[in-house]
Amino acid sequence: MSSVTDNDDAAPAGNASPGTGQPPVIRVLTLFPEMVRAVLATSIPGRAERQGQVRYEVTDIRDFAVDKHRTVDDTAYGGGAGMIMMAPPVVEAVEKVREREDATVILTTPQGEKFSEELTLDLLADLQAKGELILVCGRYKGIDERARELVVTREVSIGDYVLSGGELPALVVVDAIVRRLPGVLHDEDSAANDSFTADREGGLDCAWYTKPPVYRGLGVPEVLMSGHHANIETWRRQQAVERTQERRPDLAPAIENAGSREGPAEGGGRVPRHDRNRRTR
Ligand code: ADE
Repeated sequence: MSSVTDNDDAAPAGNASPGTGQPPVIRVLTLFPEMVRAVLATSIPGRAERQGQVRYEVTDIRDFAVDKHRTVDDTAYGGGAGMIMMAPPVVEAVEKVREREDATVILTTPQGEKFSEELTLDLLADLQAKGELILVCGRYKGIDERARELVVTREVSIGDYVLSGGELPALVVVDAIVRRLPGVLHDEDSAANDSFTADREGGLDCAWYTKPPVYRGLGVPEVLMSGHHANIETWRRQQAVERTQERRPDLAPAIENAGSREGPAEGGGRVPRHDRNRRTR
């Protein structure tokens, strides 16, 4: 097991855990440690560790195999296609790395509760309170039920489809949590008005534009070039509401009145369903 970045450039830990003064630690147990390390060392999750906001420990479950062949899977009792992840390596790996008896141990599995903004904030609070969060990446057809009973406390799915393993889902969960640790995101990558946040009333984010002002005949809504901050904010809010109603009507009830809070924006107006159709010649 090891950290995934060298954190020589660590800033004073702004997310120190209660009691220890150390950054909170996220432990990932996997059969593909290099895959997990590579992603956690990259982009915002990597920067978060280098700056001392969080620490990652990646453990190879195979190191806890109990036979000389380092076997971690076997056929299912009762028959059937597919291999099952054995209980002993998983249970022993969790028991070895876990520092707190009450640490949350998440298994990534299509059978888990669906991952969401709400669950992200819940797990973030858990990480901040306990200073430790453990993710076990499932593989093969599944994991021996006794491992779930003995060490898993929560099961998370990233959607109703089946991937080859739980590594990508675990990385999705870690990324979503880490970027919400205070101080990890800077102004230029702020999460404040991202889709699903309280700022967006749980709905989708609006359309965004940057230079050049005209690209292949496509312009930028006038209001965004007006310098009128209140109108821009109103336009963005309305646009986010319309987008949510068009693309995710299931989210729309939560944001029903959000777009009309400050009245109509001047010089902006509704952006067509396909923003690409907006042409300026
Ligand atoms: N493992 C395989 N598919 C998965 C999914 N959709 N969510 C979480 N873990 C998984």
